[in-house]
Amino acid sequence: MLVQGKPYRSVWLEDDEQSLTIIDQTALPYAFVTKSLHTLPEFCHAIRAMQVRGAPLIGITAAFGFAFALREGKLCANDIAVELIATRPTAINLQWAVEQVLQAVNATTSENAFSTALSLAKTLWQQDIDTCSAIGDHGLDIIKQTANDKTTVNILTHCNAGWLATVDWGTALAPIYKAHEAGLNVHVWVDETRPRNQGYLTAWELENAGIPHTVIVDNTGGHLMQHGKVDLCLVGSDRTTARGDVCNKIGTYLKALAAHDNKIPFYVALPTSTIDWSVSDGLAEIPIEQREADEVRIIHGQSHSGSNDSLQIASDNTPVANYAFDVTPAKYISGLITEKGVFGTDEMDQLSLHTHQ
Ligand code: MRU
Repeated sequence: MLVQGKPYRSVWLEDDEQSLTIIDQTALPYAFVTKSLHTLPEFCHAIRAMQVRGAPLIGITAAFGFAFALREGKLCANDIAVELIATRPTAINLQWAVEQVLQAVNATTSENAFSTALSLAKTLWQQDIDTCSAIGDHGLDIIKQTANDKTTVNILTHCNAGWLATVDWGTALAPIYKAHEAGLNVHVWVDETRPRNQGYLTAWELENAGIPHTVIVDNTGGHLMQHGKVDLCLVGSDRTTARGDVCNKIGTYLKALAAHDNKIPFYVALPTSTIDWSVSDGLAEIPIEQREADEVRIIHGQSHSGSNDSLQIASDNTPVANYAFDVTPAKYISGLITEKGVFGTDEMDQLSLHTHQ
């Protein structure tokens, strides 16, 4: 996707294959900063500190981190896998990617371990681009149906499920990019998404793509839906269960409830690698990441003079609970937009067949 007219991917392997370059998402939207990752501690830090974030992207980054850690030669493959998986607990793509690399490494000789892992990481990187593009194509059909005779389709999204959360295209934003390319008029309501404010990443992406959008604070969606200002909700997922429960950024569930009450279609866009077929009941079985209290107590931004600044908005002793994700039960979801097509949550058997064939 474009950054000031120049095409970018969210992460890329340098030609000499000595490092992975990432866009440091903690610096956005104020500054466009790239960083080079070489070592396992650097990769683990980038994922944990959310310099790279978004379920698909942390999986791909971890796959490269695995390969580079093998080259470092300090830890065995199993220990590398454990360290990488421990960085963030909820998004299943991380585990999915690391387990694929581990399997491939275990099936080869120690001399070939690094080249096998790196080659698989490159494959996963390219697959992610193709998968998200296909999600965009399938989701475009839904936007077209919603458009009907409307002049503009108003779409509400939560968090950032755009190209920054994947290698390119994004999940929830991919259909929006395709719709814009197809000449449809779309306008996006962008939830701010406290406390990490990933909504501003979404706004930054949409601004760079020239797509009309408006940022709203997290509690606004229900009001807009009651007043007919939302035609469609489109969100991503960090882990979806075998029965179609969707774990996504905290606050998604409340949007789904409001959409249900106002009879607004609520779609989730995800690669099938986000489906954890080993769990069924999302509420009971998905570990919800809890992050540090200072993410809530302290806000970061740019001062009037243009420098990065932070402000504490709660007293030191204010108790804080910082749950990063919630679970939306399958019954509130109109459909799952995947690279294999669009499936209702009552069609998980068919989606499983398409995924595993
Ligand atoms: O905590 P984050 O920013 O890594 O959260 C993940 C997400 O970006 C969202 O929950 C998103 O909707 C799903 S990932 C495409």
